[in-house]
Amino acid sequence: MAGDGGGSRYDEVYAAWKRDPQGYWAEAARGIAWDRPPERVFDPALGVYGRWFPGGRLNTCHNAVDRHVAAGRGGQAAIVWDSPMTGRCETLTYAGLQSRVAKLAGALAARGVGKGDRVVIYMPMVPEAPIAMLACARLGAIHSVVFGGFAAAELAARIADARPKAIVSASCGLEPGRVVAYKPLLDAAIDLSPHKPEAVLILQREQAPCALRPGRDEDLLLAEAAAAPHPCVPVESTDPLYILYTSGTTGAPKGIVRDNGGHAVALHHSMGLVYGVGAGDVYWAASDVGWVVGHSYIVYGPLLAGCTTILYEGKPVGTPDAGAFWRVCAQHGVKVLFAAPTAIRAIKKEDPRGELMARHDLWRLEALYVAGERCDPDTVTWAQALLRKPVVDHWWQTETGWAITGDFRGLGLFPVKPGSGGKPAPGYEVVALDDAGREVPRGQIGSLAVKLPLPPSGLPTLWNADERFREAYLSAFPGHYSTADAGMVDEDGYVWVMSRTDDIINVAGHRLSTGAMEEVLASHPDVAECAVVGVKDSLKGQVPLGLVVLKAGAAKEEAEIVAELAAMVRERIGPVAAFKEARVVQRLPKTRSGKILRATLRRIADGESYTVPPTIDDPAILDEVGAVLRAAMR
Ligand code: COA
Ligand code: AMP
Repeated sequence: MAGDGGGSRYDEVYAAWKRDPQGYWAEAARGIAWDRPPERVFDPALGVYGRWFPGGRLNTCHNAVDRHVAAGRGGQAAIVWDSPMTGRCETLTYAGLQSRVAKLAGALAARGVGKGDRVVIYMPMVPEAPIAMLACARLGAIHSVVFGGFAAAELAARIADARPKAIVSASCGLEPGRVVAYKPLLDAAIDLSPHKPEAVLILQREQAPCALRPGRDEDLLLAEAAAAPHPCVPVESTDPLYILYTSGTTGAPKGIVRDNGGHAVALHHSMGLVYGVGAGDVYWAASDVGWVVGHSYIVYGPLLAGCTTILYEGKPVGTPDAGAFWRVCAQHGVKVLFAAPTAIRAIKKEDPRGELMARHDLWRLEALYVAGERCDPDTVTWAQALLRKPVVDHWWQTETGWAITGDFRGLGLFPVKPGSGGKPAPGYEVVALDDAGREVPRGQIGSLAVKLPLPPSGLPTLWNADERFREAYLSAFPGHYSTADAGMVDEDGYVWVMSRTDDIINVAGHRLSTGAMEEVLASHPDVAECAVVGVKDSLKGQVPLGLVVLKAGAAKEEAEIVAELAAMVRERIGPVAAFKEARVVQRLPKTRSGKILRATLRRIADGESYTVPPTIDDPAILDEVGAVLRAAMR
């Protein structure tokens, strides 16, 4: 075990939450400025499984921006945009942020956007992305940010489901070695979607300005400049703040709903509890605003707590080198860094002895937090040894919006066990269950579930899909939220998250659905049937591998078909899927009733032990395909 050790108040605080959960969250709710205080802390009779802080009215943007200005922090840096992709570094103070957000809110309002309307935001890592999110929050409108690495069809699916009144986007994003023209993707997505937005605001970037479609598209900066500032609109605590689509087991993404009140309380509280930072501290989540980590810890968490947040448009390596993260930490005085394990592995690969790290003065950095996938023990110990700071793995999901388990700087760290995700945060009772819903003994693997209710910020439902919500999360283990992760709780109460129980894979910290990729592969004219599995990869954690059975008479070379499949996935899902490889196999292993043995294939691809299912049709096929998978692991 390693870490700070000793003196943690974790046990005491966790026990206090368990004794009186409502009292715990009532106290946390005092950290938020309410226009009208909540009538109750939690009402189990509302919504699908209950709602947090009903009767309360607040505005999330006011809490994240305006109240800091009113409290005299207007001159403090709110957002530092550090962009090695453009060579620019700019600081926006809280007062500056307030002024830009209020005007963009005014511009959106002038185009008909009001409380409850949806706005899709498809943006690279530029200040206008958080500004647009906050402008929506200011109006009580519901934003839905779509990650820039998704293709037009994925964007179209989100537009069709969210039915936005307006879309905010940019002319381009910047990836190493290429400019990603966003506008053609956006135009194609709007054309594909049965729902059309009334207004489209485009940030013109000098690297690739785009043509604007008359009557629909407008220049974002001109619209903002011409607008009157809009005040904050109070909303109900239970009103949605945002929808964030995430991969489900099928191609149709799930719209995770986040409410205003519970989210503000939990996110504000988590900054002190989990990360041990507060007003005036510099906090950096090296993620993207398109993911939940970006929503929670680039935008809302740090701003609700009055921190300075870093918005980084660059990569861990190659912009310009593997010292980039440490340069940013040193230059801006980052106190806590949050990154994906894959990013740390990429740095470790290029700078194994920490020579680039040593060039930067990291005295103000106090801890590194990692999440997005399980952090392998080697990477935790490597980072700990070189940084000589605590490295904390914490487990969470888009659905929860903040840590389910972790270690808690606000309470004094307890010893870290590399490879584990730490202990449950106050608010979560985590159990490992067998298929019948019984708790398995400590130290044994089961399905990880959280006893209901989820704490504040946990999704109350899926957008317009209560039944899908119940089915996907609440039906497997009555009284529990099913995380779809498998793992164990050990003798000391640490939670070890080992794998998914569904068809989700984690590629470089990005959550992707193998089901969605299979739908694409199956549409190739030469493919008879297919399975996509995530095979172990030493850098990205997992990478997708397609296993395809060709139709009789398919005349093309295997290499040609594989290249076509990779192009199709890139075209329909996006480059972020990182689908590059497929293998043609003669047959896929199946049960006697004809179901492909995906779970067994997953275990083989993860390098885990497996038992041959008794229902298998022909064990020899599993051997053949297993050998193909093992050969693909890196
Ligand atoms: N817009 C457009 N394309 C994007 C994109 C975006 N926002 N983000 C990624 N892509 C593209 C990349 O350019 C790449 O395209 P390519 O196939 O043409 O090279 C592809 O998607 C895969 O990208 P990525 O996953 O970033 O892999 P990589 O090999 O380029 O880089 C790492 C490897 C480890 C450096 C990188 O994955 C990384 O920084 N990971 C951290 C991810 C992270 O922070 N996740 C947050 C979750 S908490
Ligand atoms: P996302 O919703 O994109 O944040 O992905 C959530 C999923 O990523 C979880 O269900 C886990 O499978 C995985 N995950 C995230 N953080 C961790 C972690 N610290 N340890 C293990 N798995 C993690």
